[in-house]
Amino acid sequence: MIVVIVNTVLIVSGISGLLALLLVIADMLFANYGECKININGKKELNLKGGSSLLTLLNESGIYLASACGGRGSCGFCKCKITQGGGPLLPTEKPFLNKTEINNQIRLSCQVKVKEDISIEIPEDIFNIRKFKARVTDIKDLTYDIKELTLQLIKPDSIDFKPGQYIQLEAPPYEKSKQPVSRAYSISNAPFEKDFIQLIIRLVPDGLCTTYVFEYLQVNDIVNVTGPFGDFYIRDTQADMLFIAGGSGKAPIKSMLEYLVKNKSRRKMVYMFGAQTKKDLYYTALLEKYEKELLDFTYVPVLSKPTQECEWEGKCGYIPPYFPEYIKDPKNTEAYLCGSPGMIAAVIKGLKENGVPEDKIYYDSFA
Ligand SMILES: Cc1cc2nc3c(=O)[nH]c(=O)nc-3n(C[C@H](O)[C@H](O)[C@H](O)COP(=O)(O)OP(=O)(O)OC[C@H]3O[C@@H](n4cnc5c(N)ncnc54)[C@H](O)[C@@H]3O)c2cc1C
Ligand code: FES
Repeated sequence: MIVVIVNTVLIVSGISGLLALLLVIADMLFANYGECKININGKKELNLKGGSSLLTLLNESGIYLASACGGRGSCGFCKCKITQGGGPLLPTEKPFLNKTEINNQIRLSCQVKVKEDISIEIPEDIFNIRKFKARVTDIKDLTYDIKELTLQLIKPDSIDFKPGQYIQLEAPPYEKSKQPVSRAYSISNAPFEKDFIQLIIRLVPDGLCTTYVFEYLQVNDIVNVTGPFGDFYIRDTQADMLFIAGGSGKAPIKSMLEYLVKNKSRRKMVYMFGAQTKKDLYYTALLEKYEKELLDFTYVPVLSKPTQECEWEGKCGYIPPYFPEYIKDPKNTEAYLCGSPGMIAAVIKGLKENGVPEDKIYYDSFA
């Protein structure tokens, strides 16, 4: 009897899965949604051929919503308010939206297929985001798995950004990816000279964009970047600053520090950088220079797995146990964090336990 029930369930779910797949294929091959209107903020109207995602159609019209995953539905960055049209909320959107956002008609624009006229609301500053053509002028190894890229902007030839913001780099189709892929990378230089940007990129094994950068990208190549995006930037207060990063998370922090050095900031700053071994450390000389140039800046590298070869006499283990030593006035401390989601979660927990207010903790998670 049980065997019959299990078989029936398997057959029914198999048939429903097949039907769903056939519907998706039929939709891709035969559906024609004709021309659809996208009304933006009640002011601007685009007439476009329906059938693609809202994110794609906006991109094609030169309006760039944030996206760190290139439309795969895995970053949750491409939120936008849809006041009319857009169809029902999809299961793929739900994990990224809280109740308030759902009640406020917020959707993931990469998941919403435009099949009818649609009205959306987006912040006005999104119209300042541009797609740039840039020439790779330098590729430098910072460690065995981290590279620094310098990109000279060609068209447009200058960018305005806040230290800490990121761009999206597009890797063109290549051997390992039939489609172009776009990924988020923080700008690592400060915005004093506006005609170039630098990025710090860590190789993710089998990652589509980073493999392209590490194995295919050459000096003089032309790439597309879109930006700037993000709300990870320095708050203009006099509070103490605690920077915490791991791996390529040094990128936005370097931009912020460069900016603070140039502006002769007098704020108290501590920078704790987590790495496994000494060969994962980089920019050490630069950070020691900043220690001399800034009034009150301490750089604290912490190694979680130092080997004998490291001959390491500095801090070992994880970062949070050192908080009592470096956070002198927790209520008056702003924390700027950048790194993997796991590291960010552990650090936020430690900061809260040490009295840093949650609303003074800012972060970019390199998910
Ligand atoms: C706001 C923001 C800023 C970022 N800034 C930087 C930066 O300055 N420098 C930088 O190097 N990266 C940065 N990232 C991460 C970057 O966007 C990519 O996710 C990363 O480079 C991997 O892209 P990929 O195409 O090579 O890998 P994918 O093809 O996307 O992924 C391949 C596999 O690796 C996993 N994976 C994806 N990312 C990581 C990761 N970081 N570590 C381990 N596994 C991973 C995926 O789940 C997948 O299974 C940032 C991310 C965000 C959201
Ligand atoms: S672009 Fe990443 S979830 Fe939509």
